[in-house]
Amino acid sequence: MGTVTVVGSYVVDLMSRTPHMPKVGETVLGGPFRMGPGGKGGNQAVAAARQGSQVTMVTKVGKDDFGVIARQNFKRENIDTSYVLVDNVESTGAALIAVDNNGDNMIVVALGACGKLSAEDVAQTEEAIKNSSIVLVQLETNIEAVQKTAEITKRHNIPLILNPAPYQEFPREILKAVAYITPNETEATLLTGVKVTDEGSALQAAKVMYELGVPNVIITLGEKGCYYYNGGEKGILYQGFKVQAVDTTGAGDAFNGGLAHALAEGKNLEEAIKYANAVAALSVTKVGTAPAMPSKQEVADFLKYFAKD
Ligand code: RIB
Ligand code: NA
Repeated sequence: MGTVTVVGSYVVDLMSRTPHMPKVGETVLGGPFRMGPGGKGGNQAVAAARQGSQVTMVTKVGKDDFGVIARQNFKRENIDTSYVLVDNVESTGAALIAVDNNGDNMIVVALGACGKLSAEDVAQTEEAIKNSSIVLVQLETNIEAVQKTAEITKRHNIPLILNPAPYQEFPREILKAVAYITPNETEATLLTGVKVTDEGSALQAAKVMYELGVPNVIITLGEKGCYYYNGGEKGILYQGFKVQAVDTTGAGDAFNGGLAHALAEGKNLEEAIKYANAVAALSVTKVGTAPAMPSKQEVADFLKYFAKD
């Protein structure tokens, strides 16, 4: 069994369906409303744990009921909560999510306590990081926590996946410690200045990230799948699986959790990408984020079904 450490966000997702995205100043009659565990870090941890990885979550919650529920949720998912820290001042973060009839979403995330995850907090987790097969980090937290994670993984030669989501500025130096970077089209554009719209522009953006020191660049392209580049003239486009999308929120997290699990288990990158695409596809067929992550059995059945044709 592979061990995965996830450093990042936990927030409470407050989600409502909406017939259309509201315009500025508009109030839309929507619903139903749902509340559940979220945050890109937490979602990725759940995705990997449901695939059977042994997962440790490094995050910060508030001294409130939401923080208590967060810990219970992680425990229920068999995730190690030794490093689910508590901030004495900030409350647990929250995300306001609107999902329209196409399953597309808009999100505002208030990081709260997980935005206070400090370099010292991450330094405490060195033992866990050292003993991981792979480490997964996002940008939905304090950048100094990301920086410290990169420093520790580099010191111990542990492969690091950086999911640069949501995009915020960070020192490019961090990229020298990153083994795999997994931006979506928007994040790849913001990171490189190359507008990513198709395979050609994905290649140009991937080359920029590669030159900055990342040996494996994986740009996720939504339902189109993902583009993989590891040097040379061109990359490879891996097709996604076609499914009926109900709610795409958290699909990127499903991909990253699935990828981390598969790599931790020792799958080669091509197999791992295929696995990650399957986890992501299944996640969009269900409402919600962390709760929508598929089980190991569901992924196995899905891959078997697609292997037939
Ligand atoms: O990637 C989806 C997640 O981003 C949601 O769960 C929400 O919490 C936001 O942070
Ligand atoms: Na979903």
